[in-house]
Amino acid sequence: MTVNGLLGRSVLTDGSRSNRRSLISLIVGLVVGFCLAEMFILSTPARHDYLPYAGHQHGDANDAHNSHDMLGAEGPEADIGAHQHAYENSSIALKMHSEVRVLCWIMTNPKNHKAKARHVKRTWGKRCNKLVFMSSEKDDELGSVALPVQEGRNNLWAKTKEAFKYIHAHHLDDADWFFKADDDTYAVMENMRYMLYPYSPETPIYFGCKFKPFVKQGYMSGGAGYVLSKEAVRRFVEIAIPNKDFCKQDNTGAEDAEIGKCLAKVDVIAGDSRDEHARGRFFPFVPEHHLIPSHTNKDFWYWRYIYYKTDEGLDCCSDRAISFHYVSPNQMYVLDYLIYHLRPYGIINTPESLPERLKVGETMPPPVEQTTAAIEAEKASEATA
Ligand SMILES: *[C@@H]1O[C@H](CO)[C@@H](O)[C@H](O)[C@H]1NC(C)=O
Repeated sequence: MTVNGLLGRSVLTDGSRSNRRSLISLIVGLVVGFCLAEMFILSTPARHDYLPYAGHQHGDANDAHNSHDMLGAEGPEADIGAHQHAYENSSIALKMHSEVRVLCWIMTNPKNHKAKARHVKRTWGKRCNKLVFMSSEKDDELGSVALPVQEGRNNLWAKTKEAFKYIHAHHLDDADWFFKADDDTYAVMENMRYMLYPYSPETPIYFGCKFKPFVKQGYMSGGAGYVLSKEAVRRFVEIAIPNKDFCKQDNTGAEDAEIGKCLAKVDVIAGDSRDEHARGRFFPFVPEHHLIPSHTNKDFWYWRYIYYKTDEGLDCCSDRAISFHYVSPNQMYVLDYLIYHLRPYGIINTPESLPERLKVGETMPPPVEQTTAAIEAEKASEATA
């Protein structure tokens, strides 16, 4: 709007020259002042930009600063690099790497090869003794297997059967244990080897996050991943899959519940993966979900499904946790950094000694339920001993 427009015709005709000049100065002053103030306000970010979970920046990845804004972000295009730590002693982990060999197979699909699967390969997947991506298309860069199956949620059960048949035919001698995970699962392989260490791979057993419906002995959540002994893979592929009384022959069904039913039929034990303090090690959600108590949602399906009583807060999760699910590609790199690099100066973690090896068919005794207070007391007495 111009100054003339603001003055209006009546002011111009009625007022004296000096009156008119002072009025113009006043209005120009007002307009300039208003514009300066506006410029100042616009150059200062609105206050809510500083608050977490503002949530208004979705879709603009360049301007995202909190984890909520980054949830849908694509992972990094290039490898983010690696470095060694001069003062770190990983001799025990190296020994375990050769003594407890784990093949990881990742359930993926052509759409996710670049978006998700390659980030598994660059982060935790490289710590598996062997890493195989199960898809319906071959991808030489990723190293995926084209299984003879259709894609889609309705074919996950068919894909799981084909994947284990493929592993049994081509890789049974490459490992002692066989871990199935999704392309949004994150796993700490050193902790998996520590949990598996006492067990014989000739024991028919599998471990994961145990759910209680559908199968009497429970079954393992698909998203948190589950690990089968070599003997469990043999029984599943050689005895269970070909028999319609043991395994559902159609393609459809919930992959995790179906394999749980088959494995129970051929006497594969649904193992107890909790640590000595009865804390879980395999988790179907991100760490935040398990760690932060939610007082509102007690009827969430998870609380009805979990097999063992589970605490919220810090008692949720073992210090030797193995897996989490729904981890975004970026978060895989963040977890890698937090778990394998970031260290509080001056705190040295001494690994507990390894348990005795068990005989074929034997399992570890279940943990004795302990309260936090009891654990604190035990720690205090250890410290003074
Ligand atoms: C690393 O740890 C192992 C096992 O505790 C020990 O035997 C070895 O001497 C350590 N090596 C170094 C270089 O400190």
